[in-house]
Amino acid sequence: MRVVDLIRRKRDAAELLPEEIRYLIDGYTRGDIPDYQMSAWLMAAFLRGLNGAETAALTDAMLHSGQVLDFSDVAGRKVDKHSTGGVGDKTSLIIAPIVVAAGGVRVPMISGRGLGHTGGTLDKLESIPGFSVNLSLAEFRHALEAVGCALIGQTAEIAPADKKMYALRDVTGTVESRSLICASIMSKKLAEGIDALVLDVKVGSGAFLKTEADATLLAELMVETGRRMGKQVVALLTDMDQPLGRTAGNAMEVQESIDVLRGAGPADLRELCLVLAAWMLFLGQRVKSVEEGKSAAAELIASGRALEKFREIVRQQGGDARVIDNPKLLKSAAHTLDVVAAADGFIGATQCEQLGVAVVVLGGGREKKEDSVDPAVGLVFHKRIGDRVARGEALCTLHYNSDARLEEARRLVETAYVITPQAPGAERALVGRVIGG
Ligand code: URA
Repeated sequence: MRVVDLIRRKRDAAELLPEEIRYLIDGYTRGDIPDYQMSAWLMAAFLRGLNGAETAALTDAMLHSGQVLDFSDVAGRKVDKHSTGGVGDKTSLIIAPIVVAAGGVRVPMISGRGLGHTGGTLDKLESIPGFSVNLSLAEFRHALEAVGCALIGQTAEIAPADKKMYALRDVTGTVESRSLICASIMSKKLAEGIDALVLDVKVGSGAFLKTEADATLLAELMVETGRRMGKQVVALLTDMDQPLGRTAGNAMEVQESIDVLRGAGPADLRELCLVLAAWMLFLGQRVKSVEEGKSAAAELIASGRALEKFREIVRQQGGDARVIDNPKLLKSAAHTLDVVAAADGFIGATQCEQLGVAVVVLGGGREKKEDSVDPAVGLVFHKRIGDRVARGEALCTLHYNSDARLEEARRLVETAYVITPQAPGAERALVGRVIGG
């Protein structure tokens, strides 16, 4: 088999056989196939699409590029959540401690770094001084037993193919494909040794898949893939027409997560976290209904138990837990700049992807694989869709350390807000369809 032939056949829209896909994934994981050939194949797959059989073969090959963990000897149901990616999406940091604080459910969470214009849980967690997402498998298991949860990145053992392909897709314009997203998410989630999975499938201008139709197809594909592998999987379609919460940027999002765990924080972020945690508690057989799960999640925040669990998780993974009471220990940017409304009116819409790109341009994400991320930079949003604004009023504040690309980021933010004379019609519901529930 020659890699160039697999690239050419996919380029010409041929269907690849499972053994051909496995050859490609195994070769790339071992380092025998270089990035440039994988990039070419990914672009061909992106443009030509993969059918159901090819997507299943890709997921399977990526899953078996490493070990499939078995935590059946660890007491309790193992449940995880994964998002398809959004702007300001910090829910993992909040719901993992809530669910584990309930007792009886464990959360072995393998997360990703920022991808394209979206942020990544690992980058956010690493803004906590000392926090390590690079646990060995033995440490992962130990954390799961001791604390009930660990949030880690892919290791050399767990879905290593996705680790490499994710970083490559991030910088080669090959993210927004249903099949590639499904294989990426499901390969790492199926390797985690979970019993059940809640998927947060984002839809809207800040999501990879902008339309309900595309997001629904992705949700169905992932639910079906999980079920075939014997897992209980539910997918919630959730709104990403505007950022979630009030911040986007790694350290600022950690702070906002702590606010929610304290019982404060923005209403939209809190609501989505309660719903996702409720589904996790339900699939974890800790509660009898999703409604009961939502009340339980709210109570775990109100009692302070969720925040205490977050403190335990941070300590367990080597982080400085003092950040929880003293946010000044998190890095903050040296400068700020307000972007203001150019006219009176209402926020009619936001080009949410542009806001995510602005964070990357400020240094909060990567444009090349080897780029490092500045944890301190980001955006604070002052206005949401439907809000009234007056000319000159601040829409968003940029937090930055270098002005090298400040003007580019400012333009992106300024043009991301659509100001209309009339209030916009009804927004998409924060939580829409549930698939597989
Ligand atoms: N999240 C992932 O883990 N992979 C993708 O491809 C998109 C979002």
